[in-house]
Amino acid sequence: MKISKMAAGIQKSLTRQLFDKAKQYDNVIDFTLGDPDYPTPKVIRDAGCGAIQAGATKYSANAGLLQLRSTLSERIRSDTGVRYDPDSEIIVTVGAMEALYLSLCCMIDPGDEVIIPAPYWVNYCHMVQMCGGQPVLVYANEEDDFIVNIDEIENAVTEKTAAIILNSPNNPTGTIYDRNSLKRLCDLAKRHDFTIIWDECYKHIIYEAEFVSILEFEGMKDRAVVINSCSKEFSMTGWRLGYAAAPKELVENMTKLQENIVACASLPSQYAAIEAFGHGIPEVEQMRKGFEHRRDTLVNGINDIDKLSCKLPKGTFYAFVNISKTGLGSIDFAYKLLEKKQVAVVPGVTYGDRYDSYIRIAYTMNEDKIVEGVKRIKEFTDEV
Ligand SMILES: Cc1ncc(COP(=O)(O)O)c(C=O)c1O
Repeated sequence: MKISKMAAGIQKSLTRQLFDKAKQYDNVIDFTLGDPDYPTPKVIRDAGCGAIQAGATKYSANAGLLQLRSTLSERIRSDTGVRYDPDSEIIVTVGAMEALYLSLCCMIDPGDEVIIPAPYWVNYCHMVQMCGGQPVLVYANEEDDFIVNIDEIENAVTEKTAAIILNSPNNPTGTIYDRNSLKRLCDLAKRHDFTIIWDECYKHIIYEAEFVSILEFEGMKDRAVVINSCSKEFSMTGWRLGYAAAPKELVENMTKLQENIVACASLPSQYAAIEAFGHGIPEVEQMRKGFEHRRDTLVNGINDIDKLSCKLPKGTFYAFVNISKTGLGSIDFAYKLLEKKQVAVVPGVTYGDRYDSYIRIAYTMNEDKIVEGVKRIKEFTDEV
């Protein structure tokens, strides 16, 4: 059967390769996927089940239930002071992933460039390529807390630049963009007329840091696409419910495309999301505190290992661990660690070719498993 050059050109991610391989082992500690072990809070589960029992098992409007879009609009307004019209400036999607993909599809023509600060979440590059665009990477260093240098972003801008994708708090480093860097980036976007795709999926999983929204800066409502989802904040990865808030023209086009690929997000999930986004859910803070303990256990444990080091992540549930002193490349490290000690991690090169001296660890499991995983990683590094 004929396979398109585009599809053939997209690689299966190393994250999934390691995750799949980890399943072959018994007693494995799997640090690969960012899929929290906490259950979805009960009131949200009840809302989803209640919707199914009440017969909400049909299609909805392509852009999602107006009641959910109104709930989202109110939440964005109370968080940032910026109001999005629920009728025309918000679309409900199948996870943040579909929101990202649709927004790229609607703004990229073949050959257009999208700037992606690295280390990056690998799906960004693939999505840009799937839309016929060209990812342009700008690399950040550990010494700069993995905050990309804005002058280097400016150097990467060309006439073909359509957008930049920014993720704060960041997967895989846990870094959070500061106000000054964001202000400079917004000025740059205005000067060179490009869009900021702002992925804030981890904005509620932050520790001793301040989250700054792109919407705090003058004029950004007109040139930003704000993307978020239920997945991380409410531990709802499997419900597949996300959204984008953006200028009317973009949302109109995204809705048109959405009709052609999924029609709408799952209706029971939309009712569950009204419950999730509609009022405070106490479990969100409990989960955040849980992640903070896990982070401390993991990072302290890693920093006690002679050949490894790790900066304290300010948000998310990922740690980007420096393995340079082991002398191993990140793919070698990950596969040998899995084979010898049954611990699965993601090689740093997944997040950009310059990060071969890093691995990513997702601390989405209980502390006993984290302690055991760190113990095995120490044994492994002692032996190499
Ligand atoms: C930075 C980032 N954005 C988006 C997503 C996808 O979120 P969703 O489950 O809502 O599609 C992830 C998932 O890991 C992510 O790390």
